[in-house]
Amino acid sequence: MDASNEQNGTKKHNAWVGSAGAAGYDLRSDTMTTPTASMLAAIQSCSLLDDVFAEDPTTIDLESHCAALAGKEAGLFVLSGTMGNQLALRSLLTQPPHGVVCDYRSHIVKYEAGGVSALTGAMVKPVVPKNGIHLTLEDVKDNVYLDDDVHTCPTRAISLENTLNGMIMPLDEVRRISEFAREHGIKLHCDGARLWEVVASGAGSLTDFAACFDTVSLCFSKGLGAPIGSVLVGDKNVIKHARWVRKSIGGGLRQSGVVTAAARVAVDETFGKGPNGEGGLLRETHVLAKEVAKIWTDLGGKLFHPVHTNMVWLDLDDAQCSAARIDELGKELGLKLMGNRMIIHYQIYQNRDFVVPRLETIFKTVFQEKANKAAPSEGVTAETSMYRTQ
Ligand SMILES: Cc1ncc(COP(=O)(O)O)c(C=O)c1O
Repeated sequence: MDASNEQNGTKKHNAWVGSAGAAGYDLRSDTMTTPTASMLAAIQSCSLLDDVFAEDPTTIDLESHCAALAGKEAGLFVLSGTMGNQLALRSLLTQPPHGVVCDYRSHIVKYEAGGVSALTGAMVKPVVPKNGIHLTLEDVKDNVYLDDDVHTCPTRAISLENTLNGMIMPLDEVRRISEFAREHGIKLHCDGARLWEVVASGAGSLTDFAACFDTVSLCFSKGLGAPIGSVLVGDKNVIKHARWVRKSIGGGLRQSGVVTAAARVAVDETFGKGPNGEGGLLRETHVLAKEVAKIWTDLGGKLFHPVHTNMVWLDLDDAQCSAARIDELGKELGLKLMGNRMIIHYQIYQNRDFVVPRLETIFKTVFQEKANKAAPSEGVTAETSMYRTQ
């Protein structure tokens, strides 16, 4: 064994290998993407000054670059997508009684530990979109409270998630909702954890989408592949307030350059250099996601949601396959799966020659087993919690 590769008897190994590492086999989430060698190089040459004092050039540069891409005045680096959403809503809302309207499948209602009610005191109104894909202005109008009747909880914010389950809310619809919100003094937030994907699909530029919102939160650590972080963009006043709230919940950072340097590489290399994702890597993942979906449907499978971007949702109920069974089939062939949701992130794309034939084998086994079965299995539906174990 090479002595230089050994420390305290433990073999060191280099994990900065991109798609050759764990992420190249992991379709559970785009959060599984791992940072790359070029991110490591950027970390090695980042500035190391204090961000609570707002003195760190690498961080300031990332914040202003993202704000510029989105056409907003200011940006604030935050530790997670959850933190971005929560700071945004806390900063947009003033005092109860107030309500937030959103899609019933939104991350802010399903997966943020009840943060909106705990941090803002707002009543969340989760809405089922009539078209099954995204909210429309008509859905919003049916669910807002605009009057000052003492019995009602007035709607003060609308939070739109784009993409939601990989599906796109088109720019025209966002614009309709935005006009309505502005007309009625309602604030509009975008959980844009994957807005990069919307842009990469050609549905509109980051600037076009962001112009509709008061605040937009964008994640670096999902499809873009950075290890940590998100950015919240908006006007100077709202971002100043969010910085304050961030401090109050322990999110003030010291030498944040070590994480913001990697995030900048993620934006430049994975999303691309301009507001339309010019030169980025996301578009080809959408093409591959459609190919994977086609392998499934050609075998007779149904999809739970249409494939607009990088997510493929299999209808496992229809295929009479349980989440546990498909995970097991994946494990046997060296793939990490999580039930009916498959995420084709860019490191899966880079490892596609390994992944796609194995997915095909798994899908064929699923349908072979269905054919062999007499009675239907219990299966899963898409709207259970991903994290629920009972
Ligand atoms: C749409 C959406 N918003 C927000 C988040 C929260 O991001 P984080 O896990 O960084 O808190 C996620 C996480 O997967 C998400 O999918």
